[in-house]
Amino acid sequence: VRVVSDPLALRAELDRERSSGRSVGFVPTMGYLHDGHVSLVTPARQNNDVVVVSIFVNPLQFGPNEDFEKYPRDDARDNAICESAGADIIFRPDVSTMYGNGEQFTVDVGRIGTVLEGASRPGHFNGVATVVAKLFNIIGPCRAYFGQKDAQQLAVIRRLVDSFNIPVDVIGRETIREEDGLAMSSRNVYLSDEERRRSVALFQGLMLVKEEFERGITDSPSLVHAAEMHIRKASIEIDYIRIADPETFQELPEAKSGAVIVGAVRVGATRLIDNVTI
Ligand code: PAF
Repeated sequence: VRVVSDPLALRAELDRERSSGRSVGFVPTMGYLHDGHVSLVTPARQNNDVVVVSIFVNPLQFGPNEDFEKYPRDDARDNAICESAGADIIFRPDVSTMYGNGEQFTVDVGRIGTVLEGASRPGHFNGVATVVAKLFNIIGPCRAYFGQKDAQQLAVIRRLVDSFNIPVDVIGRETIREEDGLAMSSRNVYLSDEERRRSVALFQGLMLVKEEFERGITDSPSLVHAAEMHIRKASIEIDYIRIADPETFQELPEAKSGAVIVGAVRVGATRLIDNVTI
């Protein structure tokens, strides 16, 4: 795998690939890669001629009191994981390459950026959409792969591509979980052993909602209440548990098939999110 940091040189190289009929698959990441990322690189490898993984901890999507500074980083390990997953190129720009003097325009994602994860993290989705628009322009991927774990992010990316007519096929892939059900995340490294054991209650709570829905209960507040009880029993602080439309992320008073149960919690100092589709 080759590491590249110059956007224009990369764009020129990938333009040559595409004009000789070769497809480009792209997996955007913030590094500290785990099996969830590998599950995106694998189909990218299977279905494209050239596979690019970007590794960039994007300051624009972190709030002022969030974990940008301490976000886990391990370049050597990430390189090895990309190599063994079959990536051809790692795009690892630095912050000044991506944002210059900070005078650049940004993307405003509108209403979807103000609800749920967007309400808890103001500006987060504008930061995500801005960096992904830039990465799409630098790489020009035919297909781009995102994890369903960040369900609202995936909806934002789909809308971004639609809004700006970006010619890329956005592919969402199922969440990869630890054996007990905890969704894989680079942030899981923050958890102590004891917090790690308790943290599975989030996924269990979301699954309880799904089970109750399958038993015929559709009233969202009652469904959510069962999950909240379960999660609180594990001494986990809830940010939100809601049932939402999978495209707009507006809350649904009545659950329906295809809806997404989204949850965000704090286990100690660590914020975790997860979701389950019903
Ligand atoms: O999901 C992530 O890792 C990031 O939000 C992304 C899509 C790479 C944008 O920085």
